[in-house]
Amino acid sequence: MSQLVIQGSQWGDEGKGKITDYFAQQADMVVRSQGGNNAGHSIVYNNHRYALKLVPSGIFNPNTINVIANGTVVNLEALKGELDLLESQGITKYQLVISDRANILMPYHIDLDGAKEANLGQAKIGTTKKGIGPCYTSKAERIGLRMGDLLEDEYLKDHLKSILPIINIELKSYNLKEYSFDEVYSYLKKYAEIFKDKITNTSILINKYIKENKKVLFEGAQGAMLCLDHGTYPYVTSSSPLANGVSLNSGVACYLLDKVLGVAKAYTTRVGEGPFPSELFDKNADLLREKGHEYGTVTKRPRRIGYLDCVVLNYVKNITGMQHLALMLVDVLSVLDELKICVSYSLDGKTIDYVPSNLYAYNRCKPNYITLPTFKEDISNCKSYDELPTNCKKYIEAIEEITGLKVSIISVGPDRNQTIVREKLF
Ligand code: GDP
Ligand code: IMO
Ligand code: MG
Repeated sequence: MSQLVIQGSQWGDEGKGKITDYFAQQADMVVRSQGGNNAGHSIVYNNHRYALKLVPSGIFNPNTINVIANGTVVNLEALKGELDLLESQGITKYQLVISDRANILMPYHIDLDGAKEANLGQAKIGTTKKGIGPCYTSKAERIGLRMGDLLEDEYLKDHLKSILPIINIELKSYNLKEYSFDEVYSYLKKYAEIFKDKITNTSILINKYIKENKKVLFEGAQGAMLCLDHGTYPYVTSSSPLANGVSLNSGVACYLLDKVLGVAKAYTTRVGEGPFPSELFDKNADLLREKGHEYGTVTKRPRRIGYLDCVVLNYVKNITGMQHLALMLVDVLSVLDELKICVSYSLDGKTIDYVPSNLYAYNRCKPNYITLPTFKEDISNCKSYDELPTNCKKYIEAIEEITGLKVSIISVGPDRNQTIVREKLF
């Protein structure tokens, strides 16, 4: 029970932050292995709400080492701002290290994200405009800067001299401001000074902890359906949020990561563009959005809302091997007059139980639902499974039957304490 991977199993914002923080109270280490400050992870305890972006959700436990691992992209300015905000909120005793192999997300990546979205017009992805796609593109193009470069001044200067002209050609092609060497170099030196003591080989550290049988939690960002490979391409993010990616993105053998907890909302949400078969456009969407406060943590955009889609959950289970579910925001369901679960799709007159790879085909999928009776009780104070209303339990048991996954955790409110655990996982 020493390692646990927390996997977003829909389109993000499933409540990964809440669950990670919950387990982090017993964790020796919490690792964020991909994504950047496109993530927004909300945590509520002691009547305070915190919104984390790149900082791992173990930050509130002073005994936990928080790791920003090699697969992440680090916006230095945003990370500094995030830490300053936490410190102003009284979170001063924390442990944080950053991989020397993590790529640096530069201001020009943000400029390019905005320009590319604008040029896509109607076909825009609806990104968070944080520069994530362009930063991972630089990484794959081998013109990225890495955290460890901040510790090697000669290399930093030489590398910057060779990559900046290439970056400026692209900026110019979008009529964007070009960057001078001095400007970029002084920016990097400023943050090198701030972060130099936190930069290390995090893979060695994580493996040491695992060998010592310490408790290591891997916090996913985004959701499986936003995976660059297995998500609703091209309406995805630019990294892989799958549990499968954690091994590569944090430098740990895959056989050490054999326990995966999928986190799913009791319904579905999505921000940004892209297919969403069980999306609702009626008053039920508004009811769920208001009760669930479904507005983006990062961009404040209203989230798109739909019924729970078990075709998606089964698809993600197949790819990731997730064995358990944490079912989140179950309290919000009480606004509905009946509960529906999508169990298959109709595509061109055929019933299918998979997610088509092609965007147009997925857009043509119509959801097939089962309908269950609702519950109207306020469950936000329930402390055990037995206390839940019968119809709530029937809904949970239906999900278990359709997915073959054990719903091991039920979340009945945003607070750390509003968590029902049916099975010890960590
Ligand atoms: P993440 O990105 O997966 O960490 O999820 P977000 O934090 O972006 O979005 C989840 C939202 O749901 C946040 O506002 C949480 O405070 C809230 N939340 C989490 N669990 C529950 C729950 O069980 N009930 C309610 N009502 N809100 C919850
Ligand atoms: P957490 O960790 C929800 C979405 C964006 C957009 C697409 C690409 O809080 O669950 P990007 O800026 O990554 O290039 O945007 O991915 N997206 C998220 N949606 N939750 C997130 O993170 C997301 N991170 C990215 O809205 O549709
Ligand atoms: Mg979020």
